[in-house]
Amino acid sequence: MAGVNLGIDFGGSSIKAGLVDVVQGRIMGETVAVPTPVPSTPHAVVEAIRGIDASLPGAASVGFGFPSVVKQGRAWTAANIDHGWIGVDVGALLAEALGRRATFLNDADAAGLAEVHFGAGRGVPGTVLVFTFGTGIGSAPFIDGKLLPNTEFGHLEMRGGSAERWASARVRTELSLGWPEWGARVSEYLAHMERLFWPDLMILCGAVSTHFDEFAPYVTSRAPIRPAALGAAAGIIGAALAAA
Ligand code: BGC
Repeated sequence: MAGVNLGIDFGGSSIKAGLVDVVQGRIMGETVAVPTPVPSTPHAVVEAIRGIDASLPGAASVGFGFPSVVKQGRAWTAANIDHGWIGVDVGALLAEALGRRATFLNDADAAGLAEVHFGAGRGVPGTVLVFTFGTGIGSAPFIDGKLLPNTEFGHLEMRGGSAERWASARVRTELSLGWPEWGARVSEYLAHMERLFWPDLMILCGAVSTHFDEFAPYVTSRAPIRPAALGAAAGIIGAALAAA
């Protein structure tokens, strides 16, 4: 189908996918989610994606949002995934497995592209910082709608370690933090980002963004904050968009 791509979002706990109308920026039909294989080796993940692809036929090409720095067509980091991905030409690996053109990019960059094109950041001028809160913290800064790719602001040092070890959604679940406690951690992180970037808007993505009303009262900032308008689907839509 022309204008329809398969978007795949590879997260620490699940791999989510859907067929995306890349003109309208919306998912067509059902999304599919499978648990991320443990260990999440390239072979195991590609096998899982092969299964997903077979259950969602009809896409012209495939976009893959990947939790790593992506440069010169390769994955360079592996903070929350199997280290076997480092140095792998992920696009080529997927294209070979699926028999179709495949594009891959950082997962937070994918979610950010979707939100800036179709969601909470649409038409917003100036500096917009998009964050994904999941297993780690991903970041995607935009200036007048243009992305600066592969930033790793989740690894900013905070409290003697990576910020994502302090304020990710996984940390909230692992430590059974209530919304007030987690909100305070997120505020501290965002305040740090604000001191450095002075954004005009911050957008919070990831599955936890669907609970925005519950934690927003505990998150303070100078710039306005909006939850992802596309919810947990932002990563899928952005990956498909990047493949367009
Ligand atoms: C990774 C980033 C990724 C983020 C969200 C971090 O640990 O280093 O590349 O965007 O997690 O998945």
